[in-house]
Amino acid sequence: MKYDFGEAIDRCKTNSLKYDFIEERGYPADILPLWVADMDFKIPHETAVAIKKSAEHGIYGYTEPKDSYYRALSGWFEKHFDYPIRQEWVLKTPGVVFALSLAVRAFTKEGDAVLIQRPVYHPFSHVVLNNDRKLINNPLVLKDGKYCIDFDDFEKKIVENNIRLFIFCSPHNPVGRVWTTEELTKIAEICIKHHCIVVSDEIHCDFVLSGHKHRILSSLSQEIADNTILCTAPSKTFNLAGLQAANIVITNPELRKQMYKELTRTGYSQLNSVGLAACQSSYEYGEGWLSQLKEYLGENLKYIRHFLAEHLPQVKLIEPEGTYLLWLDFRETGIEPSELDEFMKHKAKLWLNSGEIFGKEGLGFQRLNIACPRTYLEQAMIRLKTAIDSLL
Ligand SMILES: Cc1ncc(COP(=O)(O)O)c(C=O)c1O
Repeated sequence: MKYDFGEAIDRCKTNSLKYDFIEERGYPADILPLWVADMDFKIPHETAVAIKKSAEHGIYGYTEPKDSYYRALSGWFEKHFDYPIRQEWVLKTPGVVFALSLAVRAFTKEGDAVLIQRPVYHPFSHVVLNNDRKLINNPLVLKDGKYCIDFDDFEKKIVENNIRLFIFCSPHNPVGRVWTTEELTKIAEICIKHHCIVVSDEIHCDFVLSGHKHRILSSLSQEIADNTILCTAPSKTFNLAGLQAANIVITNPELRKQMYKELTRTGYSQLNSVGLAACQSSYEYGEGWLSQLKEYLGENLKYIRHFLAEHLPQVKLIEPEGTYLLWLDFRETGIEPSELDEFMKHKAKLWLNSGEIFGKEGLGFQRLNIACPRTYLEQAMIRLKTAIDSLL
């Protein structure tokens, strides 16, 4: 089946976070939203059929997945990452952020320090601070247009702060890194050496650009797997965020027991039945859709790269290796970093993610979601160029 990702689908009046809360959130009504990480594309045909079948049944009682669900999950990870997943390793949660928070509560106590690497997906900070833990940052270092890990600082922070939990973003949102096997191994070895559990958020694992390869952290060795809480979900890959289903993979029975205990403390048990059906069907049949989608996203990336290089060279694209989120550096535009958000909102009329929400390291940056029809991006680039030109 051939999909048309260029089709503009009206998402207004669907209670969409991206489109239906513009004025409520203080943005001008005519702003173009290119922020939150969901896509303006319809899901795979087979997934839509599975959802309709589930909806049309008319009874929505408590639901548990059968073997076929786990076979679909395992089959996907085996095929794409050479990492089959055993049923008994899986905890199901309504989302990855929910699981990050569970891990903070399960493996640390109030006042303990938790490590993250900013600029990073902002809920990482929230799940630490909202659980009254101390946030410790090992900032990523931007060198020659590429973000790297300062491993000396990483180890020093773990030792000095007696860190027992590190929340890792792989591939990395927002800087777009797909970590190499060497980097992953180093991270894992340092953590094992200092008895620090890694919560590896790999929700973006299916979006990796050519020339790069995503390695599941837990696939590197049994020892690494046994120190890792692997967080996965079909929600980014297949645009199912509203259906709330995540699969958290924990090989170590002791860590799994602790996470499970924390899960039961929340009172949460069964997943949403429609979410389960969508997850299974996507992992079973979504591959063709995904490969067409990745081609389209690749063209979107090319378009933005060329437009900026040709018309707005002062806005620097941090070359992504993965994800559909672009990290744009505005520090050479002459716009004061502290005024950048207002500029985007009122002058360019573009709703991107402010870089600052990912940590102060993101000041002067914006995150652009390119998972939309190309015409939206063309409109966005015209708005951006007109606004920047008007500064001259
Ligand atoms: C790195 C990362 N983790 C988690 C999430 C959200 O996951 P969930 O909706 O399952 O909580 C996102 C969404 O953008 C993300 O980028």
